[in-house]
Amino acid sequence: MKIIIRNNAKEASLWAAHYIAKKINDKAKITDKPFVIGLCTGSTPIETYAELIRMVKAGEVSFKNVISFNMDEYVGLPESHPESYHSFMHKYLFDHIDEPAENIHILNGNAKDPEAECAAYEKAIVDAGGFDFFLGGIGEDGHIAFNEPFSSLQSRTRVVTLTQDTREVNARFFDGDPSKVPAQAMSVGVATVLSAKQVMILAYGPKKARALASAIEGPMSHYNTVSALQNHPDGIIVCDEAAIGEVKVNSYRYFKAVEAAENL
Ligand code: GLP
Repeated sequence: MKIIIRNNAKEASLWAAHYIAKKINDKAKITDKPFVIGLCTGSTPIETYAELIRMVKAGEVSFKNVISFNMDEYVGLPESHPESYHSFMHKYLFDHIDEPAENIHILNGNAKDPEAECAAYEKAIVDAGGFDFFLGGIGEDGHIAFNEPFSSLQSRTRVVTLTQDTREVNARFFDGDPSKVPAQAMSVGVATVLSAKQVMILAYGPKKARALASAIEGPMSHYNTVSALQNHPDGIIVCDEAAIGEVKVNSYRYFKAVEAAENL
């Protein structure tokens, strides 16, 4: 696992955007096959998406041959609701880049047959060639996508019930009222995320510090699902100083030494 630490969220977000653009460009140089990417929502990736939009407009990267799958969506929230992840993704990314509409995949939280929807999503990922890259954030309890504590580390796309903590944290998007946050979501599983060739997790701010430290230094556990990244051969955490603040001083020094030695 690599840990990239930047002074603040802005610098970390730019680093992540440039890394992703380079991955897309590098693949395009060697093959016509699409670049298949998993994408996340939340406040965390917004600056990274903004920089990717700038790069697309500047001709520095193109999403024409990118296929994306979003990691999750609320169950029962109309797609047109301003806080649906459909709305979020169009507002912060898709409406401003050149990714073809047919390449965009987001779970249908209103599907009549949720199980069939989730199974079809897993199949569509395989049919697209599998993930080259997965971009994720984390919840304050370390959840990745909506894989709440006690999600199997072998989980795949399914309907999940949100914890009260998550509904309270996300209430800020629903008039501050946790009861307005949908009780369930559809989410890719931990194993779906880990199936990607490379996984990048963004984490900013002190509220993520405890979960991040236990994911990095603690045991791999279903209690903190992002800790499963320990079992991935190519995981990268991109964070700011506040989010890395709870790791041991010697761990921090080591991460910085690796960054310097490998020119990251
Ligand atoms: C939700 C999403 C996660 C996201 C998390 C953190 O729970 N399902 O994918 O990582 O929020 O959100 P934020 O980036 O706003 O802190």
